[in-house]
Amino acid sequence: MDKRIIVAIDGPAGAGKSTVAKAVAERMGFLHVDSGAMYRAVALWAVENNIDPGDDHKLVPLAESAEIALTGGRVLLNGRDVSTEIRTPEVSQAASKVSTIPGVRRELVMKQQEYALQASVVMEGRDIGTVVYPRAQVKIYLDASPEVRARRRVEETGGDYAQVLRAIRERDDRDATRADSPLRQAEDAVYLDTSDLDEEEVIAAVLRIVRERTSNGRGVTS
Ligand code: DC
Repeated sequence: MDKRIIVAIDGPAGAGKSTVAKAVAERMGFLHVDSGAMYRAVALWAVENNIDPGDDHKLVPLAESAEIALTGGRVLLNGRDVSTEIRTPEVSQAASKVSTIPGVRRELVMKQQEYALQASVVMEGRDIGTVVYPRAQVKIYLDASPEVRARRRVEETGGDYAQVLRAIRERDDRDATRADSPLRQAEDAVYLDTSDLDEEEVIAAVLRIVRERTSNGRGVTS
């Protein structure tokens, strides 16, 4: 019996996935993998080289040759720490475009699947429970209203509320309507609306689900 556990956390931008995934991974002693950071790293590379992030002919080889490492909460692209650079609004928009390219997705999904060969993981993204790990023991779909997500983003990183809300709606729309692996809840995922919950409440709720489904973090129940 395989003892490795996969916790898949999906949901739209700003639903609180990163904070929750990191905290749950720490408490369970699992590896935390932010799959969005990988799309962002490829997008940053394109932006820095003046390559159109929607150009699939150029982006697929870029994704293939990108060496992306997620270690100790840092993101390395070809050995360079790009943890800060990948979080700019420009890279967010570029990542959203890059992630619509099927060849890029194929490449990054393969890289993401390799993580579970090494350890139990908490992986966050948009298609983790549906495409990357359809057999994950725990699947959670974190959601919150666009208004709440925009407010949280402004509190965290500043910016104009109306502009942030518009950008979130644009990205939601692109994530949900792209042809390849659109954002959607897996049928067997637990839906958790975090609009009226604080951070600790969300973490506690997710930990409860993980423990219920995995006999307290050990072994596999299904
Ligand atoms: O979670 P994030 O905002 O850092 O993700 C950046 C972009 O990558 C976002 O537009 C959605 C996309 N993405 C994706 O398509 N699939 C994933 N598994 C993770 C992120």
